[in-house]
Amino acid sequence: MNIAVAQSGGPTCAINASLLGVFRHATKYEEIENVFGSVNGVEGLILDNFINLCDIILDDDDVELIRQTPSTVLGSCRYKLPNFKTDSSVYETIVENLKKHDISAFFYIGGNDSMDTVMKLDDYFKANNIDIKAIGIPKTIDNDLPITDHTPGFGSAAKYVATTMQEIIRDSSVYSSKSVTIVEIMGRDTGWLTASAALLRRNYEIAPHLIYLPEVPFSVEKFLKDVREAQEKYYAVVIAVSEGITLDPAEINDFQSGKSDNFGHKYLAGVGKALEKIVARELGCKVRSIELNVMQRCSSHLSSKRDITEAERIGGAAVKTALDGYSGRMMIYRRVSNHPYNMRIEHVDVREVANKVKYFPVEWINKLHNNVTEAAIEYCMPLIQGEQNFRMKNGLPQHYVLRTALPHHKREGKIE
Ligand code: F6P
Repeated sequence: MNIAVAQSGGPTCAINASLLGVFRHATKYEEIENVFGSVNGVEGLILDNFINLCDIILDDDDVELIRQTPSTVLGSCRYKLPNFKTDSSVYETIVENLKKHDISAFFYIGGNDSMDTVMKLDDYFKANNIDIKAIGIPKTIDNDLPITDHTPGFGSAAKYVATTMQEIIRDSSVYSSKSVTIVEIMGRDTGWLTASAALLRRNYEIAPHLIYLPEVPFSVEKFLKDVREAQEKYYAVVIAVSEGITLDPAEINDFQSGKSDNFGHKYLAGVGKALEKIVARELGCKVRSIELNVMQRCSSHLSSKRDITEAERIGGAAVKTALDGYSGRMMIYRRVSNHPYNMRIEHVDVREVANKVKYFPVEWINKLHNNVTEAAIEYCMPLIQGEQNFRMKNGLPQHYVLRTALPHHKREGKIE
C-alpha cells in the first residue's frame, strides 16, 4: 500500500516536523511502500500533483534540514471542499487520483478548516464504501483547535512572541520621554498567542503593561484610560494586542485589505496601526505600532524544541492510528501533568473539531480585561522549552527548499 500526506493552512515552525513524523514512521512499516506528498494540500489530490517523499528524503541530512525549516515544504492551501451531497465531482477526481497511486490512507496536517476537509473526505469515503482512511494532524500558531491541549506550532510561535516582545521592551525603554508601543500579534479569533507575551513575567519583566485579547469586549475609551494610567507609572508603555480584537470598522477599515479567504475568514491585520493613530490623536505622545505579522509563524531559529519534537511524534502516531484501522480522526495532545510536564497522544472524532474554535479561557483574563493571569503563564511555560540545534550556512539559518514542490509545479489545471 501507499499513503499520502499534505500540509494546509497558515505556516508554522512545526508543520514540517509533523510531515517528517508521518514519513519516518511510515517507512518503518513493511506494508507501506511509498509515502506521497500532495503539493499545496488538497489541491494536489485534485490536480494529481504528488511527489514521492521516498525519492527526496534520502538521508539524515535531509531529515535534519526539513525539521528546522519553517512553513510547508509541500506548499499549502486554503481550499474548501463543497458538500459532496450537492457536488461530488471533486470527490470523484480525488478518489480517482488516490486509487491511481494505490493510496489507502491520507494524512492532512492543518487547522480548523483543514479538519473540515478531513471530515468531508471521511464522510464521502464512508458513504461510498471506499476503503481509504483520512486522518487529521493538528497545527496552528493560533492554538485554537478544540480538545487537544495545544497545537503543534503554537509553542514555537509563543517563544518567538515572548522573545521579540522582550527585545521591543529593551528598545522602547531607552528615552526619558513618554512613549507608547503597540505590538499586534496574530490569532484570528483567539488570544492564545497574544497571551504568551506575558511569559516574560517569569523573567521578572513588568512589560507588556497591557494585554488585550478578543475573548472579552474591547472599548477604545477604556483602552485610552488604561494607557493614561499606565503612563503615570511607566514612561514607556508597551502593549500587546491581538489582531482579532474588534474595533469600530471605521477606525480599522483603512488599515485592512477587506479581503477574505475561501473559508470566509477576513484577512486581519491593522488593529495596531489603528490604535496607534488613536493614541497619537488622543494622547499626543510618541507612539509606534509593530505588527509581528508572518515572522511569528516562521521564526524557526527561535523555535521550541519541545514543540518540534512533539509535532514529529504526533505525525508518527497518526500513521499508527490509520494502520490500526481508524479513519475520520484527529490526533490530539492530552496533558497529563505540568510538573514535570508530561503529555500523551490520543485521537478523537474529527467532527468534534472541524470548524470549531477553542477560545482562551476568560477566567485567565484579569478583571480589568487588560492582562492575563498566572494560570495562562503556567499553561504556556512548558510549551516553549528547549532550543533546536540549528544548522547554519554562511552565517545564516539553513532551510530546506523543495524546488520541484513550489506552487503550480506540474499543474495542468488552476484552482481558485
Ligand atoms: O493560520 C492561522 C493564521 O496564522 C492566523 O493567525 C491569521 O489570521 C491567518 O492565519 C492569516 O492567514 P493567511 O496565511 O491566509 O494570511
